[in-house]
Amino acid sequence: MAWPIDYKKYATEHQITGLTMPSIKSIMAREEGYTLDRAKHFLVFQQRINSELLQHSIIKNNAYSQWFQQGNMRLDKLQHFVIQFSVFSNLFLIAQLKKTINADSIEGMRASKEILANEIGVIFNTPNKIDQKTQAELAEDADIVSLEGSIEGGTFRFRAAHFEWLLRMAEKLGLGFNDVGKRAHGVPATLFFCDELERLYGSEDYMISQAASYAVENWAAAGFWFELVDGFTQYNAKNAADLPLGFFTWHAKIEAQHAAHTQEELEELYFSREIDEDKFIQYGNEMLAGVAAFWIGLNEQRQAELN
Ligand SMILES: [Fe+2]
Repeated sequence: MAWPIDYKKYATEHQITGLTMPSIKSIMAREEGYTLDRAKHFLVFQQRINSELLQHSIIKNNAYSQWFQQGNMRLDKLQHFVIQFSVFSNLFLIAQLKKTINADSIEGMRASKEILANEIGVIFNTPNKIDQKTQAELAEDADIVSLEGSIEGGTFRFRAAHFEWLLRMAEKLGLGFNDVGKRAHGVPATLFFCDELERLYGSEDYMISQAASYAVENWAAAGFWFELVDGFTQYNAKNAADLPLGFFTWHAKIEAQHAAHTQEELEELYFSREIDEDKFIQYGNEMLAGVAAFWIGLNEQRQAELN
């Protein structure tokens, strides 16, 4: 996005380049908490985040999704992957519900509730796009369901639940409803990840949940969704298969969209609250360790089968 020249000039003159435009606007407008001093502290903190959190190996180098991208997986490995993902997809609902309950403002609660409701099948209401009725009818095709809008006034459809998108893929792989999605189907690495999401992302301590959110969003935006979509597309082509990819293509697209907001949200947090910076980095890293365990578990499983 092109920046209006005066914001750019202001940022340069006041040595606060690196901040997102909404923050610069707020500083210029002298909104509460938005001081130049705070901005400079934030930029120092951001450097710490960049070097002490965002360099994490699971963000920079995900061996499993890179392998998956080639699309050379055997059916049994693909089944294992889909089962583990289905467990994550279902148990994530618990973490998201806790995050909703533990929000520290009505706005925060609603933002979390949007994600939760959409996850279980409420389609975003988007007057400007395909009309709601058409969307509802197409709910089973995740490729067409909107990425934007609000759940306010949106339509609920069982078949629009993200878990059901994944279930439809699982069924094509010969798996039934009772083969996927339950805690009992998760390997220890997957369950560790899900439990860490509940403990950190869903934490009662607002700072911990925010640190975990920031970590999770940066992981989600790191490109693994696209690698998975590539892998499935290759798999379909190589095996003359027709796996429905909606669960993965939808998440790839929405994460690309979220990435732009993640940084703005961090700045908003920093300008509106006192932040224990060490704690933020520590809990962000704990969350990424949980994420990493999940992928390392998958990677070890596929390597074990090579023998
Ligand atoms: Fe989802």
